[in-house]
Amino acid sequence: MTRFLLALLALAPLGCTVEGPEGPIGPAGPPGVSGGKGPSGPAGDAGPQGPSGAPGAFLVLSERAKRGFDIAPVPLVLEGLTAAQLERVGAGSYLVNAVADCGSCHDAPGEDGGVRHLAGGARFALQPSQGMEVYARNLTPEGNSGLTLTEDQFVLIMQTGLDKKNPTSSLLVMPWFEYRWMTVDDLKSINAYLKAIPAQSNDVAGDVKNDVPRGTAQTVYRDGDVERALLPDTTRDADGVLRGFTIQPLAQPDLTALTPSEQSLFGRGSYLVNAVGRCNECHTNPPRNLVTQKINTAAYLAGGMVFAAPAGQPLKRSMSRNLCGAANGYTAPFTDFAVTLASGLRAGSTAEPIAWPMPIWALRNLTTPDLEAVFTYLRRVPPRTGAADKKTTGPVAACASSMDCKAPAQCNLMAGECVGPCDAVTPCPTCQACVANMCVAPAPGSSCLTSGL
Ligand code: HEC
Ligand code: HEC
Repeated sequence: MTRFLLALLALAPLGCTVEGPEGPIGPAGPPGVSGGKGPSGPAGDAGPQGPSGAPGAFLVLSERAKRGFDIAPVPLVLEGLTAAQLERVGAGSYLVNAVADCGSCHDAPGEDGGVRHLAGGARFALQPSQGMEVYARNLTPEGNSGLTLTEDQFVLIMQTGLDKKNPTSSLLVMPWFEYRWMTVDDLKSINAYLKAIPAQSNDVAGDVKNDVPRGTAQTVYRDGDVERALLPDTTRDADGVLRGFTIQPLAQPDLTALTPSEQSLFGRGSYLVNAVGRCNECHTNPPRNLVTQKINTAAYLAGGMVFAAPAGQPLKRSMSRNLCGAANGYTAPFTDFAVTLASGLRAGSTAEPIAWPMPIWALRNLTTPDLEAVFTYLRRVPPRTGAADKKTTGPVAACASSMDCKAPAQCNLMAGECVGPCDAVTPCPTCQACVANMCVAPAPGSSCLTSGL
């Protein structure tokens, strides 16, 4: 915590849009959550060897690296790592398991309903008419079927979408077009984490796809309305605050009324939202243009993307929430936001879970400063107005009989989804239409099902 805040304060005056003289030191942040806990694991895990720093060196990990070690779902291989390398592994675990949620695509099913962490193999069907399909790769350090990349190769893949298996083509499903904006430092941390997880042998099927030209490493951010040059990789930007200002896709709001530490929270929040957390890939509809890589800024973070749940889930479909609309956006106070992300329950509710695929399982691990950063960003980013300010609606339950539906809703057996009453104040959930005060299931192939709101 201390380290994070200090770094923020030190960086604040450098913010690209922050003009004028250096402001006063901002107010002290809230108390850190893990303050009392004491360091967890890494030194102990490393066993008798310990960090091989200078004699008497004390292992000081950042709050995020500590959190990363706490939440790593597998035992890590840490023998012989220096204190600086341990910091990288912990920070990488935090990025992978708390923010980017690589596991939701790269995990493999294990025995007894367990998970083989990042062992790959999940199939993604693309344009089924053309029979294209790709498979999440095995990211574990296994010599034959896993990742055997150098650090430089890994960074290049994350920045350009280079597909080593098909070198003339780009990775298609892998969200490298977002991860490419991470700082090289953070990419190296992820690489260090991937080298420390247990090797898993899992030969992943080959992709079937047409060539899509891959990207090149960027020096200018062009995905949004405003082009901004990236600062060189050598810039001291441990928290990605400066990078966050650069990759904010809209014109920069006037932040002069904010304290330097609040400005830093905005930059850090932008970094988490736009480079790591994929919030934009789910909460902006229509999504990014995959040819130009441009973000649909007109509807930026206004929600409305529709997700059909896989069979067997109690859920039929859900719609991403409008996070940044002037009238219909997310207005809960910070305390509710923090409780929602920690508990997975909707603000103000004790029973209503936030629906799949909102990655609560990962985001619940965000540190308090990072929650504040994301929240500050969502509040300060220029809100969408007019037609782009979408009225997004809640999830639809799947059913096999009316016993699966919450009364007075009943099961529409043909559609396999619950339908209930509706009126001007209670809209129908995702893609259902209100007809004579009753919700009706959408016709197959309706535009809401295929393209969202
Ligand atoms: C939305 C699903 C998804 C997410 C999230 C995701 N990946 Fe991937 N990734 C894929 C798929 C699918 C492929 C391979 C095929 C493709 O994308 O065309 C892939 C490929 C890769 C490759 C290329 C490996 C090789 O064989 O050369 C790397 C490296 C990688 N992912 C790392 C990551 C990391 C690290 C994260 C988290 C920071 C991540 N991925 C998050 C789906 C995902
Ligand atoms: C894989 C898609 C996906 C990603 C990635 C994603 N979300 Fe969501 N999010 C959703 C969906 C779908 C819902 C609606 C869930 C519901 O209606 O229960 C949602 C709901 C929310 C809500 C509303 C919670 C409430 O109380 O109703 C917030 C806040 C939110 N997301 C923030 C974020 C932030 C911040 C990020 C990035 C760090 C993010 N989401 C990333 C899909 C996603």
